[in-house]
Amino acid sequence: MGLNLAQKIITRHLVEGEAKAGQEIGLAVDQTLIHDALGTMACLQFEAMDVPRVSTRLSVCYVDHSLLQVGFENSDDHVYLRTVAAKYGLLFSRPGNGICHQVHLERFAEPGTTLLGGDSHTPTCGAVGALAIGAGGLDVAAAMAGGAYYFTVPKVVRVNLTGRLQPWLSSKDVILELLRRLGVKGGVGRIMEYTGEGAAGLTVTERATICNMGTELGATTSLFPSDEMVRAHLEAQGRGGSWRPLAADPDASYDDSIDLDLSSLEPLIACPGSPDRVVPVREVAGTAVDQVCLGSCTNSSYADLMTAAAILKGKTVPGGVSLTVSPGSRQVLRMIAEAGGLTDLIAAGARILELSCGPCNGTGQAPATGAVSVRTFNRNFTGRSATNPDRVYLCSPVVAAATALAGRIVDPRTLGAAPKIAPPLRYLPDDAMVIPPPADPSGVAVRRGPNIKPLPRADRPGDGFKLPVLLKTGDNVSTDEIIPSGAKLGPLRSNVPASAEYVFERLDATFPNRARQAGAGVVVGGWNYGQGSSREHAALLPMYLGVKAVIAKSFARIHQSNLVNFAILPLTFADASDYDAVDQGDLLEMATLFATLAAGERLVLRNVTKHRDIVLVHSLTARQLEIYRAGGLLNYLSGKGRPA
Ligand code: F3S
Repeated sequence: MGLNLAQKIITRHLVEGEAKAGQEIGLAVDQTLIHDALGTMACLQFEAMDVPRVSTRLSVCYVDHSLLQVGFENSDDHVYLRTVAAKYGLLFSRPGNGICHQVHLERFAEPGTTLLGGDSHTPTCGAVGALAIGAGGLDVAAAMAGGAYYFTVPKVVRVNLTGRLQPWLSSKDVILELLRRLGVKGGVGRIMEYTGEGAAGLTVTERATICNMGTELGATTSLFPSDEMVRAHLEAQGRGGSWRPLAADPDASYDDSIDLDLSSLEPLIACPGSPDRVVPVREVAGTAVDQVCLGSCTNSSYADLMTAAAILKGKTVPGGVSLTVSPGSRQVLRMIAEAGGLTDLIAAGARILELSCGPCNGTGQAPATGAVSVRTFNRNFTGRSATNPDRVYLCSPVVAAATALAGRIVDPRTLGAAPKIAPPLRYLPDDAMVIPPPADPSGVAVRRGPNIKPLPRADRPGDGFKLPVLLKTGDNVSTDEIIPSGAKLGPLRSNVPASAEYVFERLDATFPNRARQAGAGVVVGGWNYGQGSSREHAALLPMYLGVKAVIAKSFARIHQSNLVNFAILPLTFADASDYDAVDQGDLLEMATLFATLAAGERLVLRNVTKHRDIVLVHSLTARQLEIYRAGGLLNYLSGKGRPA
């Protein structure tokens, strides 16, 4: 039996374990990426590892999230990242160069390599046949220091695409259709591998949109073969030498498969609250809109923005609609300027924003109270726009542009002939805003502003606990709900004491005070606890406030690893209905812990308040148990010396 593409890349990079679904393995990491929102913490952690230089083939630090410089904090973080990159050997993509995933796809991603990114949308680069995985910053720091990336081998799902996209349809509709079918938990523990003649017909930037939002399925990563489309993309970027053919063997086996006929798709849109609340656009057509946002790492390629510009060309958006555009990179902005698309967008009334994440994570352009915002982004968790509650829809650039013009949601198929924009034969490679590290870093001094506070470390856990439930949440709690992002909190990312004041702000603003008063406690969650952003602050800050365990119906992959990395024990109800047997304020007791955890046996939790025993399970590997008992990954690595 042959190998699928994911198995091929995993096998070539295997440094520990056996590449079988469900087994923990260590994978050699070729490339890493971090960005300013989470990267300051990752760099502080890297510094704490006392390693002189990054060991990867390529590590890049992007500044793309927190570009508002209304005080010294973000500016100081930019300076810290620039100097730390120079000292330790990372490329530094300056503020203004673009969004990490778009720039990495343009300039650095290579077929057959492994890429570990401190951002959940790192799988975007699966579009060129890279195994690109998002992780917590501490895992990325360990990889930069030369360590392997440890994870449980996912199942591989073959997504067989047939047919071709009809006019007015785009690859955003492909991933929205998968979200409609599978939901935000449908990809958990899975790699989505795209094959078939339908996949072969998609351009690299179309594939990137699909891989990007595979994260919203909960998938570990998504990837396409490295074929002629990838060769064309790399040659157009002046990087043809990086191309090599890579595909699944003809007789490859998969754990599961999904068929999707591209010809059968119709325009889709995700309704407010979750990326999987997907309906045909025609069902919500006519809904009045106040704001339309183009861009983000999902849909800000040259083709995306030129298509939107072609729809808007010669027309003006109504007075009640605010249209914003966040180009994905300097390359995209320069090229749409030279092709005339930028002029068309400006003439249509668009507000051209910085080359950054911007409204995607609530950094500016928060919608008005009650306003409807239609965005080409990847997430619409309630409150992520920085207005709470909000009404954010997610759709393709085509639907967004048509909607902006009409002032109401529009099924674009009613508009006549669709514009056709092909990717350019030649992009404009320009790496002037990527600063390479000096060959000799001995003269580089790392500059730290006063907002960069020392890194807190977890204590070693005790063998058992008797603690109150500090908070009980519902299902699908995102890391945005554990610790929000955006303009308000971005500047505090490297200041743990200050940002801890906002933990669970959207669910219960009294949490930090109550946690401090209790001294320590437990959080109880529903299904898919910790979905969304990879931000490790969603584990680090609760650890700082004394959270010792999270007991949930299930966990999102990256967040579960982050909890272990910060010595918070993730436990799961053996019977999900026992979730109802615990309430906020209950006192929970676990008499002994370590021996039961190590034996892989079921744990009996005593709900002292309700006089009831509850059975819990865990999925920690032997290595993760060691990390937990050491008091987190940083303590584990320093106890063991430099990562293997
Ligand atoms: Fe940035 Fe939003 Fe992507 S925050 S990295 S544009 S998901």
